[in-house]
Amino acid sequence: MSNKSYNIAVLPGDGTGPEVVDEGIKVLKAASDKFGFKLNFEWFDFGGDRYLETGEILPDSAVEEFRKFDSIFLGAIGHPDVKPGILEKGILLKLRFELDQYINLRPVKLYPGVPTPLKDKGPEEIDYVVVRENVGGLYTGIGGFTMKGTPDEVAVQSMVYNRKQVERCLRYAFEYTRKHGKKNTLALCGKTNVLTYTYDLWERAFHEIGEKDFPEITREYYHVDATCMWMVKNPEWFDVIVTGNMFGDIITDLGAITQGGMGIAAGGNINPNGVSMFEPIGGSAPKYTGKNIINPLASICCGIMMLEHLNEDEAAKAIDKSVMYVTGNKIKDMGAGKMGYSTSEVGDMIADGV
Ligand code: IPM
Ligand code: MN
Repeated sequence: MSNKSYNIAVLPGDGTGPEVVDEGIKVLKAASDKFGFKLNFEWFDFGGDRYLETGEILPDSAVEEFRKFDSIFLGAIGHPDVKPGILEKGILLKLRFELDQYINLRPVKLYPGVPTPLKDKGPEEIDYVVVRENVGGLYTGIGGFTMKGTPDEVAVQSMVYNRKQVERCLRYAFEYTRKHGKKNTLALCGKTNVLTYTYDLWERAFHEIGEKDFPEITREYYHVDATCMWMVKNPEWFDVIVTGNMFGDIITDLGAITQGGMGIAAGGNINPNGVSMFEPIGGSAPKYTGKNIINPLASICCGIMMLEHLNEDEAAKAIDKSVMYVTGNKIKDMGAGKMGYSTSEVGDMIADGV
């Protein structure tokens, strides 16, 4: 039991974001009631609709306001009537960068009963975590065009990392492995055979930090292309994987599909010393909006991650168990409209089981 109270900023966003967030919050409320802590939610309506109505994306004053919260609970960003990139960069990436959420923590966990496309693999085999660097690399936005629109056009987008960025991410990954790893093994996913600067820095830092401060943790290295192959063929090899921003983006979509798809894949944008933001890996799924058929499990699993982050471990475990029961015994398919239950019914079942 804890008597604590947490202030949570809720950013439902676009498309099915609000529907899944409602269920995530329903379950969080059930957990906070049961385990005796308080969650104070405050809603913010940034997203495509607000942008189309007012032209406002995410003002700096809102970022400052978000700094005062214990966590941010986000639904989805992306609107069919807004050019791709505007909202993603203006809201999602802006928050990640401004709040220095330098870790993107993405568990690849197959819940019981959830169909996976991987033959002969089950929850025993598919259970690892990707630690994605979240504010650097190709996402830094350094680059530009020359002679744009001419046949001689040149476009550059640089993969930029400094030692400090790499080091803090690696340290987080080592600490995470020490605390949560099942096999005490941290794998670096890189491309040292081609990206001989950036991933050379990562690899040197990885071994230096590991040898000096985490000698009990086994270090492995995989190129990113091979990582993809083994994530499909032998996912049970992995415990914790650490990688840069772009590779992390790509391999976590692969990971998500092996754990049952975007309906269930959750992630956290973590600033270990600041405000973290929890968001489903999937997007706003415009075509399912307002139909009460979207799978809310990803948002509910974000709630688990948020409670773990707030050190409400008992409550997090209770939700996790309830999700396991519902995936194992109730929902047969993770796809929108295929669950056999509506969005809100899934939320009810999980809330009741907490
Ligand atoms: C993700 C998304 C984002 C990313 C996009 C929407 C900017 O794909 O969270 O993985 O590339 O990080
Ligand atoms: Mn992505």
